Amino acid sequence: MDYYQLAIDRKSTREFREKDVAPELIAEIKDYFKQCKRLIPSIDVELKAVDPDTSPMMNGCVGYKDLLIEAPAYLLLLSEPADNYLENAGFIGEDLVLKLTDMELDSCWVTINEPDKLAERFKIGGGKVPAGLIAFGYAKPGIGSSGRLDIINMSNVNLKKRSGAVAPKLYINDALYSEDLGIADNPAILDTYTDLYKGLIAACCAPSFLNRQPYRFIIKGGKFILVALPDNESEDRDELIGLGIVMLNFDRTLTQRSGIYKGWVMGAPEGEIELPENGRIVAYYNI
Ligand SMILES: Cc1cc2nc3c(=O)[nH]c(=O)nc-3n(C[C@H](O)[C@H](O)[C@H](O)COP(=O)(O)O)c2cc1C
Repeated sequence: MDYYQLAIDRKSTREFREKDVAPELIAEIKDYFKQCKRLIPSIDVELKAVDPDTSPMMNGCVGYKDLLIEAPAYLLLLSEPADNYLENAGFIGEDLVLKLTDMELDSCWVTINEPDKLAERFKIGGGKVPAGLIAFGYAKPGIGSSGRLDIINMSNVNLKKRSGAVAPKLYINDALYSEDLGIADNPAILDTYTDLYKGLIAACCAPSFLNRQPYRFIIKGGKFILVALPDNESEDRDELIGLGIVMLNFDRTLTQRSGIYKGWVMGAPEGEIELPENGRIVAYYNI
């Protein structure tokens, strides 16, 4: 799996053909889940595959405006509700999404509006709660190139169009709130930091609730810092999942290319860091 390329190529699909996903492919995804990296390895997470026979049980408690995306298969992540479990679910779930992309399967994250109701309907117990949901299968041909209603731009930010995809993404310059590498004055300097640059691009291609991308990055003192922005449009759950997704894209791209990193550290690094208004440091990465 080439994470960098997969992060760029991935796009959400909302209209699926009725074609089933073969049981061998579902088994391959379940196998992959066992080995994929966790953001917080101590959190117990389980994967449940949902098929069209049981998917109607999700009606009315998942999806934008409670509209379930109809798909031949779904992945439901169940997690122990420990600290940062939603970021962890986003991290694991996006690895699964990129695996699906690699397997030439199309997918879309689906918001869980009422996790308690969903847990009750599926009789989920054992101390776990529904954390993340992904619809997948085969896209209807020709879908994905027309305009979509769900794209809401943050103000004063340039978004980059992606070929073959509808949702535009944050420009690197807008995604970086501040940096001490001299990138803003001399973008060519990023040639020296090719892997970091690719990690940043992968992070900027991350899917997010309503494509809001409510986060920015700060590079300071050898640290790559993820900052969450306040966002009235995103639900808290989805915002936290989205942060996990960004962390996966950055981590996998960077470590796959130069494998010497120790991964994300949750919380803020020591020292004073100037933040965007109402911004909150989520985690940092020693680069
Ligand atoms: C946590 C989360 C929840 C989402 N929920 C929904 C949803 O319920 N319905 C939907 O159509 N898309 C949903 N999306 C997909 C986003 O709308 C999509 O990622 C965004 O528009 C960017 O488009 P892209 O994935 O093609 O880059 C969700 C995405 C995330 C990360």
